[in-house]
Amino acid sequence: MQLIDGKAVADQIKQEIAAEVAEIKKNGGKTPHLAVIIVGHDGGSETYVASKVKACEQCGFKSTRLSFESDITEEQLLEQIKMLNEDPDVDGFIVQLPLPKHISEQKVIEAIDYHKDVDGFHPINVGRTSIGLPAFVSATPAGIMELLKRYNIETSGKHCVVIGRSNIVGKPVASLMMQKAFPGDATVTVCHSRTKNLKEITLQADIIIAALGSPKFLTADMVKDGAVIIDVGTTRVPSTQTKSGFKLTGDVDFENVAPKCSFITPVPGGVGPMTICSLMKNTLLAGKKAIYK
Ligand code: GUN
Repeated sequence: MQLIDGKAVADQIKQEIAAEVAEIKKNGGKTPHLAVIIVGHDGGSETYVASKVKACEQCGFKSTRLSFESDITEEQLLEQIKMLNEDPDVDGFIVQLPLPKHISEQKVIEAIDYHKDVDGFHPINVGRTSIGLPAFVSATPAGIMELLKRYNIETSGKHCVVIGRSNIVGKPVASLMMQKAFPGDATVTVCHSRTKNLKEITLQADIIIAALGSPKFLTADMVKDGAVIIDVGTTRVPSTQTKSGFKLTGDVDFENVAPKCSFITPVPGGVGPMTICSLMKNTLLAGKKAIYK
């Protein structure tokens, strides 16, 4: 069994980005600038946004954090998005999700200029990704593909089972795994909460991408010997063993599944660090106008 070290790969990619940014600055180019909107005080969101701002520093980017209380109206938030859309210094920006219930996430996503949508959530970027056109690919799926690539994991003709059908992970990663490319060229099955005989399906999988958000859901009896396991779960489970009072827990029962696998991502330190790193890559692409002119 080989552990897929997402933290090490992410650190390496951030160094590669930082070197490229240093070169851009040396040649008098523009420093890439990411803005992040956060609404309210959700603990998970605060942690993610702090990590994104820190990653910007590591990459040599400029970053702006815009914080709003959870009573901000949808109209006021849309006005802030309009300002970022029109600000020529901002290359890309994201609105951290989830948002308070009185604000439509879909309306917010569609209000973001897709040229600056470094989260890759706008329907234009989702659609372009799914038909294989250049686009901002959403960060978690892009991070998973990068791990498969850097570990040279064979995907062509393999049976990849995705568990979860979210717009952010399940659907886009399924579409990337079936595209004519490496990584890709896989036969993809998407399973979800209504799937019957799930175990029967996962037992046929050469690659399992678990992205349903249910701690330790995938158990050893559901996994074929030699399978590749990608764990996207990051549920904050209460714990007395950590200072913060919670422990990030994946969708895979790691302890019992790991001995059966050829490759597996740990939680934390697997897909998580790659997600932030993909956001940095998208910001660099936005700064360079590499996807859209
Ligand atoms: N909430 C959880 N993951 C993400 C993400 O990748 N982007 C944004 N904007 N919000 C999130």
